[in-house]
Amino acid sequence: MGLISERLNRIAPSPTVSIADMALNMKAAGRKVIGLAAGEPDFDTPQHIKDAANAAMKAGKTKYTQVDGIPELKQAICRKFARENNVSCTADMITVSTGGKQVLFNALMASLNPSDEVIIPTPYWVSFAGIVEICEAKPVFVKGSGANPMKISAEDLEAAITPNSKWLILNSPSNPGGVGYDADDLMAFAAVMRRHPQLHLISDDIYEHLVYDDFKFATMATIAPDLQDRILTVNGVSKSYCMTGWRIGYGSGPVPLIKAMAKVQSQSTSSPNSMAQYAAIAALDGPLDFMAENRAAFARRRQLVCEALNNIDGIDCPLPDGAFYVYPSIAKLIGKKRPDGKIIESDSDFVSYLLEAGEVAVVPGVAFGLSPYFRISYAAADDVLADAMQRIAKVTASLS
Ligand SMILES: Cc1ncc(COP(=O)(O)O)c(C=O)c1O
Repeated sequence: MGLISERLNRIAPSPTVSIADMALNMKAAGRKVIGLAAGEPDFDTPQHIKDAANAAMKAGKTKYTQVDGIPELKQAICRKFARENNVSCTADMITVSTGGKQVLFNALMASLNPSDEVIIPTPYWVSFAGIVEICEAKPVFVKGSGANPMKISAEDLEAAITPNSKWLILNSPSNPGGVGYDADDLMAFAAVMRRHPQLHLISDDIYEHLVYDDFKFATMATIAPDLQDRILTVNGVSKSYCMTGWRIGYGSGPVPLIKAMAKVQSQSTSSPNSMAQYAAIAALDGPLDFMAENRAAFARRRQLVCEALNNIDGIDCPLPDGAFYVYPSIAKLIGKKRPDGKIIESDSDFVSYLLEAGEVAVVPGVAFGLSPYFRISYAAADDVLADAMQRIAKVTASLS
């Protein structure tokens, strides 16, 4: 009997770790690695939000707060849902945690039993699967059966449902695919949910404000108010407000679930950071002009990266609806040979070679449950991206 629990031993280590380690070791050795693996905006937090945190600190708001968030922030979150999503909620339906990740963790920990299944469309954000596994429940991965394998249909969803299906986790626009589900898609999913009352929905809306072209963000709580007591909407300030390090996420859901989630949080981390909660109020209630500027920069970079990748023989990059990632296919590169004779057998092989030979760090699709692809985060300066694209083109061209 070892020290580490059976629960943890059942969980595979994240496949991203070895690439991240390699990149760090190369950087430590003085090599100029371009890192396009991180999932965070490169922009700084807007000044008015920092000012609110400073003011809170000066005013002595430096103590523990209510376990799942201060009432003022819960009110600001209710205002946000009413203003931006046309969803009415009360403070007792709101929870605040240390990032959207903890909201998800609390929800799954509070609700999952070992036989429960959680339906997760692929490619998925790695933590969806990891948290379900920590909770000893079963992730059920679903791939789109239509032209776009990254987007599931209502039929794909229905085919995955069993009597044990407890949650569907829908993340739109998604990490890593950038796939968006619009109001029509959600209406079709709502019809499926009405036929299967055992199924609940986690709607991960963390990339809500980062949508491009004419894609219109929609969320299930707006589309299907009749399902409100089966929906947990998860959101946060990390991505939209450039506040990844502040660690504030929030959720809105049925009161019994929200209370159970507070119980999990009370026995793990207690309240989220007090100053960051005041900063989050300033973010949610404050001006949004910076967001339009950031969105315009992301939209430009998305175009730049997609065009450059699609110009490379062997790489096919769909244009994402949102978030700040692209998820190109490298199916045509599998089986090709490196100059040293080694064969590219998987996306991990391609990503390792790209790092070794091109000094560009990206994440292999295997980490997100859909291969052979890789993920690039384009939250980096235009000239850095242009340099990275040239390196990827050069490395790919060296394969025969
Ligand atoms: C899909 C998705 N959901 C939730 C999160 C959690 O973000 P945070 O914990 O920083 O709020 C992330 C962060 O990468 C994400 O990509």
